[in-house]
Amino acid sequence: MTSSTTVTDSGSGRYTSIAMLLHWVIALAIVALIIIGWTMGSLDRALHATVEGVHISLGLTVLLLTVVRLIWRLTHAQPALPPGMPAIERRAAHVVHVLFYVLMFLLPLSGWVMESLGSRPIPFWGLSWPHFPALATLTAGADPRMLKETIEGIHGSPLAWSMVALIVLHVAGALKHQFDGHPVLYRMASWMKRP
Ligand code: HEM
Ligand code: HEM
Repeated sequence: MTSSTTVTDSGSGRYTSIAMLLHWVIALAIVALIIIGWTMGSLDRALHATVEGVHISLGLTVLLLTVVRLIWRLTHAQPALPPGMPAIERRAAHVVHVLFYVLMFLLPLSGWVMESLGSRPIPFWGLSWPHFPALATLTAGADPRMLKETIEGIHGSPLAWSMVALIVLHVAGALKHQFDGHPVLYRMASWMKRP
């Protein structure tokens, strides 16, 4: 969500420590969720139930962390992009970041809705997460089983595949900028030296 009009964050040229922490924790969690999502279908019944519980709990954690991250993002200044970066690349980075935020909400929300269409409790690290509020009213007239299947399909693909495509584009963009004279990695990585 970078833009040429944003101001420099205390002159460091970096995101704040909290923004960096949230970026990397959420990024790791999303990669783990995709790997778990794709592999859990082939596990035997007992292991499947445990792993699915971890997938659901971690996915809901991403939802909570994304709410915190968006609030932080909207209330804190962002570092300005490196000078001389072509306008089209600034625009592309901005579009990818906005789409990331959309998917960081849609993926866990679709999971929450599809679980809420079933009758079993929704696990959350050993506790029980509430079913999606007012879902019966919102989906009045629809067959819950059919709706659950449709949302399951949307959750796995196209949403998960769009996330994979964005991650590939985002990493390729970050690496391209790193080596074409507009380094950006240090902005999101406190352990890297500012060039
Ligand atoms: C960023 C968050 C999430 C990501 C990236 C993610 C990703 C995935 C992926 C890649 C799959 C495999 C789909 C397939 O192979 O068809 C999957 C399946 C599944 N996810 Fe998620 N998920 C997320 C959040 C959630 C949440 C919050 C819930 C529930 C509250 C959830 C519940 C499920 C369930 C039940 C399945 C198995 C569906 C089936 O049996 O086809 N996910 N997820
Ligand atoms: C699931 C994985 C990832 C997601 C969802 C993600 C998401 C985001 C988002 C939304 C931003 C914009 C900052 C904000 O507004 O909060 C961002 C910035 C950034 N990300 Fe990622 N990211 C992921 C993985 C990675 C990886 C693996 C790298 C390393 C190559 C990386 C490097 C960066 C850098 C360097 C920035 C700062 C861009 C700038 O200069 O403004 N990200 N990321």
